[in-house]
Formats: sequence, C-alpha cells, structure tokens
Amino acid sequence: MNTDLAPARLSAAAPPAGTGPFAAYEARVASGRLDRDPEQEKAARRLDQLWRELRDYHPVVQSAPPASGWLGGLRARLGLARPAHEQARPRGVYMVGQVGRGKTMLMDLFFSLAPVEHKRRVHFHRFMQDVHQRLHDMKEADPDLTDPIPPLARQIAQEAWLLCFDEFQVNDIADAMILGRLFDYLFADGVVVVATSNTKPEDLFQDRPGADAFRPFIAAILKEVDTVILDSPRDYRRGNARGMQTWIIPVDAAATKELDSIFARLADGAPVVPVALDIMGRTLNVTRAAGPVARFSFAELCGRPLGAGDYLALATRFPNLVLDGVPRMGPDNFDEARRFIVLIDTLYEQNVKLFASAEDRPDAIYAKGQGATAFERTASRLEEMQSAAYMQLPHLNA
Ligand SMILES: Nc1ncnc2c1ncn2[C@@H]1O[C@H](COP(=O)(O)OP(=O)(O)OP(=O)(O)O)[C@@H](O)[C@H]1O
Ligand SMILES: [Mg+2]
Repeated sequence: MNTDLAPARLSAAAPPAGTGPFAAYEARVASGRLDRDPEQEKAARRLDQLWRELRDYHPVVQSAPPASGWLGGLRARLGLARPAHEQARPRGVYMVGQVGRGKTMLMDLFFSLAPVEHKRRVHFHRFMQDVHQRLHDMKEADPDLTDPIPPLARQIAQEAWLLCFDEFQVNDIADAMILGRLFDYLFADGVVVVATSNTKPEDLFQDRPGADAFRPFIAAILKEVDTVILDSPRDYRRGNARGMQTWIIPVDAAATKELDSIFARLADGAPVVPVALDIMGRTLNVTRAAGPVARFSFAELCGRPLGAGDYLALATRFPNLVLDGVPRMGPDNFDEARRFIVLIDTLYEQNVKLFASAEDRPDAIYAKGQGATAFERTASRLEEMQSAAYMQLPHLNA
C-alpha cells in the first residue's frame, strides 16, 4: 500500500490538544509567522467549525466489519455494504482559490489538529493511483467480482474516515467514471472530506467529452461539502517561497514591523541570541541572531570599519539577513556605500537571502558619488536577489 495513504498521527510539534485551527492560525499571525489575511481567517473559521463537529462524530463505519473476504464481497454485491446512519455527518470543506493563497497551509494546519485517529492526508493524484491499483488487485483476486467499488469504498473508509485531499482535480474520463460512485459510497460510509483545489466543484471536468456523466458526482460533492473561496489579492508564493517582501520602501515604523515579522518567521521559534563570529582571531558580534537569520541595522554593518572578511563570515554562517534602514547615499557617504557594495557582493556570492528596508529603490540608493558606476552592478544584483529564482537558490556556507 502507498505509504502516503497510511493514517497519520499528530506530529510532536503540534500545538497543545484542544487547540482548534482558528486559534492555531491566529497564534501564527500573532507571532508573525503568517501575515493577517481576512480570506484565510474566514476559511480558518469554517475549518474550526468542522474541527468542533468532528469531536462528537463517530461514523458507523468505524465499528462495521470489513468488506473484504467472501462475506464482504457478497454483502457488497447485494448492496448491503452501506451502514445505516443515525448520526448527522458534518459537512466537509472544499477550499478553492488561485495559486499561493494558503489553501494547502490551512488544510495541513486543520489536518494536524483534527481530533480523529483514522485520518489521511494525500495528494489527489496519489490517491487516484492507489484507487486504480486496488481496483486492479481486487479484480485479479476475485474475477467474479462485478462491482469492486463498494468494497473498495468500505476499505478506504475503514482505514481513514477523514480524508484530506490536496489539489483535487479530475483529469481523465477513467477517473471521472470511478469517482462519482466511489464518493457516493464513501459518503454513505460516513467519510468526511476536506480538499484544496484550483477549480470549483461545479467546474471540475467541464468542457470535456463525458462531462455530462460527471454531473452527478458534482451534485454529490456540492451536497456533502461547503465550498470556501480564498480570494486574497496576494499570492504568498510570488517573489519568494514564503510570501515575504525583500526590499521594503520607505524606512518607517511599518517597514520595521514587517521586518520584525519576517525575522520571526525565518527564526521559526528559535530564540534570539547574540552570536560571536571568529574572523581570523577577531570577533564580530552579531547581537540579534535566531536560528538561520541575523539582523543588523545599516549603521551597524556599513557605518563601522568592517571589511570583506566580516561580511564573508556573516554570509557563510547565516542563510538569511535582515537589514534595517538602507539610506539614500551621495558623495559624502563614500565609505558606507563602498562597504555596502562589498556586503551585497558577498551576500550574493553565498546566495544569502536579504530582507531590507530602504529609503529608495536599489538603483537610486547611490546614484551620485565616487564608485557610483560600480554601484550599478550592486543595484542590479539587489533586483535579482528579490526574484523567485534567487530566493530558491541553496545557501552556500563554504
Ligand atoms: N498568511 C500568510 N502569511 C505568510 N505566508 C503565507 C500565508 N499564507 C500562506 N503563506 C505561505 O505561502 C506559500 C503558499 O501557500 P500554499 O502552498 O498554502 O498555497 P496554495 O493556495 O495551496 O497554492 P497552490 O494552489 O499553488 O497549491 C506557503 O509557503 C505558505 O506557507
Ligand atoms: Mg496548494
């Protein structure tokens, strides 16, 4: 069996028992690990409701005998596999939205907290592969089995009755034909479904040959789940993998707050401590370090007589640097500008991710003065360092 499909347990890092997804989401926003997003809040509230409903829900399938073996097969063929339901089944949640809106992040948060022992979180492609494999195996094991779908649904439901599907989609007619009946039986067995998708249920597999045959499935899905649309204006993946701004203009309280939040998110819970870096017998004191990130003001890093050796030690030790207050410089600031050029060259060579607040765009930071032409390359590097491609490069620590 596909290990991806094995029921998962709460991870050791999960918040304390009794925390719901909304409280967990709010805690992440409060600590700066996530940006506040009203659309996500709305989805987190809906997931919280489901989380509460799941605490009191016990699907009949949990105590039903397995549908495997000759008796199970017979039951299935006679249509007796469906349990009678006394308890109302909570409606599932189907989150839909464009890329990078935080659907997967929210589903994973919900999944880790869901008070259900038999739960499974799986990419929808993997799930379908597994379904095809099991159907094949069942037919091979029992050539007389005319309809393997009911016993398969029973098997799946008994392994996990909370199913969380990432990237729900229907790509071909073979899947479309299986899905409708499979989900009918899964729902009848009391399964609760949570899903993320880029496509609304009513648009799944439409404009395709065979779309008509798929309509009953759409109707079933709409009956069993609530669609929650995440319509945030922001793609948290754009610019970089974590949705963080890299060059923030101007230098003000809002920029400091944004850098506070980025620092906290990169620290990911690591304590803020001073770190002493040894540079050929000398010491460079990093007053604010937390896990993989260090934070400096521009004055601390470029307003003092530091050199290439210091910057290299920093750049190899820390994958991320938060830099407060890059000023607009002119002919009087030659020393600062020169150090800043060396700093950026060094960070760039080691693929360090830079998050800075600045008085202006990179190309306007040092437009006039000695070495201003050399700064053009620095400005261009600063632009590149904001790109998604750069943000994905591995840090070079040697
Ligand atoms: N509120 C937020 N603040 C900061 N980062 C966020 C926020 N929401 C999501 N992210 C981050 O943005 C990235 C994209 O989020 P996620 O993968 O959940 O998007 P998605 O909606 O599932 O996108 P896709 O449709 O492409 O699968 C993730 O790294 C996630 O942790
Ligand atoms: Mg996703």
